[in-house]
Amino acid sequence: MKRIAVMTSGGDSPGQNAAIRAVVRTAMEQGVEVYGIRQGYTGLLSGDFHLLTSVEVSGILQRGGTILQTARNEEFRTPQGQKRALRRLNEHNIEGLVCIGGNGSLNGALKLHQLGFPVVGLPGSIDNDINGTDTAIGVDTALNTILDALDRLRDTASSHQRAFIIEVMGRNCGYLALMASILGGAEIVVTPERPFTMQEVAKALEDAYLRGKTHAIAVVAEGAPYKSTELTEFLNADPNVGFEIRLTILGHIQRGGTPSAFDRLLATRMGVKAVRALLAGESGVMTALSGREMKTIPIEEAISKIRPITETYFEMARFLSR
Ligand code: F6P
Repeated sequence: MKRIAVMTSGGDSPGQNAAIRAVVRTAMEQGVEVYGIRQGYTGLLSGDFHLLTSVEVSGILQRGGTILQTARNEEFRTPQGQKRALRRLNEHNIEGLVCIGGNGSLNGALKLHQLGFPVVGLPGSIDNDINGTDTAIGVDTALNTILDALDRLRDTASSHQRAFIIEVMGRNCGYLALMASILGGAEIVVTPERPFTMQEVAKALEDAYLRGKTHAIAVVAEGAPYKSTELTEFLNADPNVGFEIRLTILGHIQRGGTPSAFDRLLATRMGVKAVRALLAGESGVMTALSGREMKTIPIEEAISKIRPITETYFEMARFLSR
């Protein structure tokens, strides 16, 4: 291979720039040119490709977001869209592709592989819902951002004797919510995997009040079976809860910011691994962290299900919240 391309797709996540940099510099070392595709599958379909030089990826390690920009694209999901993408890659003499993104983006990468085009994926998503890898690029930074917010909210909650409902991202996966709850000391956490009822949340907050706590925190995953606004209304209408209730939806603030040391290292290792795998003839695979080892797994396995959360964490959340 003499020319490959790299793209970021779907929701951005901190560390994606570090991955792009590692892809470009690893390929350069092997005498391979790297083209950047702007705005994910949208740029792939429109042919928005440009040569990435070493200088262009200089000074981006510490930047959140993605210098290549990203998009969610519907057209690529169709067989016609996929054929057009293939045509664009051939027009630019691109021989292999590195695709950084979440489940949807990896699914797209798999389609190209099935059409015979060499592709390696990198898991990039704050949700930690990609199966087969211990973690994905951006998860650690997002979790630190959530914890920072949670610590601040606890200060004000405690000063006013209030309970806070904090909604965190994660799509259909409760990983961020559960970890934030354990590491931030929440009283209860509602996730898609453990969907406590609104009555159970009320009971947990009431218990905290009766035990003399000056504050209480309930973390709610965005994939919970009810909206955090509904829960807040429900709790406000329950006189037994004791605390006054406030709601904070953290939203997209969780996606931005400087990547942590962990995410920079993870992204760098994955970028290096992806290029080496592609040049060694691998395709249809995704880089995956397994313990200390960086390996590749079939993309099929990565997108086959939502990454299951280690059971012990749910148990820990339960008894540590006392
Ligand atoms: O997958 C990352 C994520 O931030 C999810 O946690 C969230 O559900 C979704 O993307 C939000 O998407 P958008 O940025 O398109 O609103």
